[in-house]
Amino acid sequence: MQTRPPLKNVSSAEPQWHKRMEEIDSPVDSITLPAADGEGCAQDREWCEARIDGERRRYRFHDYDQIFKVPGLYEEIFYNTLECCSPSRVASLLEELLEDFKVSPGSLRVIDVGAGNGMVGDELQARGVVDELVGLDIIPEAREAAERDRPDLYDDYIVADLTNLPPAAEDKLRKRKFNCLTSVAALGFGDIPALAFARALDLVDEPGWVAFTIKEDFLREEETSGFARLIRRLTNTGVLEMQAYRRFRHRLAVSGEALYYVAMIARKAKPVPGDALRDPN
Ligand SMILES: C[S@@+](CC[C@H](N)C(=O)[O-])C[C@H]1O[C@@H](n2cnc3c(N)ncnc32)[C@H](O)[C@@H]1O
Repeated sequence: MQTRPPLKNVSSAEPQWHKRMEEIDSPVDSITLPAADGEGCAQDREWCEARIDGERRRYRFHDYDQIFKVPGLYEEIFYNTLECCSPSRVASLLEELLEDFKVSPGSLRVIDVGAGNGMVGDELQARGVVDELVGLDIIPEAREAAERDRPDLYDDYIVADLTNLPPAAEDKLRKRKFNCLTSVAALGFGDIPALAFARALDLVDEPGWVAFTIKEDFLREEETSGFARLIRRLTNTGVLEMQAYRRFRHRLAVSGEALYYVAMIARKAKPVPGDALRDPN
C-alpha cells in the first residue's frame, strides 16, 4: 500500500481539481464550444474544439481515449468550461453520511468504477475518508492518464470490462475486501451498463457503502437502460438501503442548458442476488 499524504482538512463541498491543475503541465491553450443552433445536441454527441500547442482539434465528448491522452484536457472541457461538479458533490455527500453513521475516518476500501483520470479519487482522498483506493475503467488511456497526472492516488488501477471480468482480475479485486463502491458520471449513455454496475456492487462486502450519480432521465419508469428497475429491485429487496438522494446540476450542456443528475448514497446491507448478476432486471 502507498503512504498517503496527511489529511488536508477540506471544507466539505470545495472541489479539489483546481489544486491538481496547478501540478499538471497542460498544453491546452483554449476550448471553444460550437455555436448554439437552437436545436441542442444529444449529450452523447456533444463536442468542442481545443487549441493545443497552437493547433485546433475537434473532440467528441465521448471519445475519452483521445481526451485523456492530452494532460489537463478533460479538466479544461468538463470542469473549467462546463462547470462539472459531480466528484466533489458525491464525495462531500458521502463524507456527510459517514459522519452521521460514525464511520471511522480513513476506513473506506474503495473501488472507483469508471474512474477515468482520477477526479473522484482526488476528492475522496482530500477528505481523508480512504484507506485503499482502486480504480477501474474500460479503457487503458484512463489508467495511463491517472498514472501520469495523479501518480500518488491509486493503490491499483485495473483496466477491464466488468461484464466480462477475467477470473484472475476478479480474484485480485475480491481480495481487496472493498467496503465502498463509487461511480460518478459513468453510468448509462453507452458507458457502464446496468449489468456491469450490478457486478461492481457484488465486489463490495456488507456492510458497505455505495455512492454514485446517474442522469435523472435514466431513473424514469419507462427508461430502457435497466438502471431504474435495477435500483428499485435492489432497494425493495433490502440489498441497498438508500441514505441520500440528491438532485444537482452535474454540468452545463454545450448549449448552456443545465444537465441534472441524481447523486445517491446507499448502504449495501445484503449480497446482490445471483440472478441479478446475470440479468439485472
Ligand atoms: C465521464 S467519465 C467519468 C470519469 C470520472 N468518474 C469523473 O467523474 O471524472 C466516464 C468514464 O467511464 C468509463 N467507462 C465507460 N464505459 C465503461 C465500462 N463499461 N466499464 C468501466 N468504465 C467505463 C470511461 O472510459 C470514462 O473514463
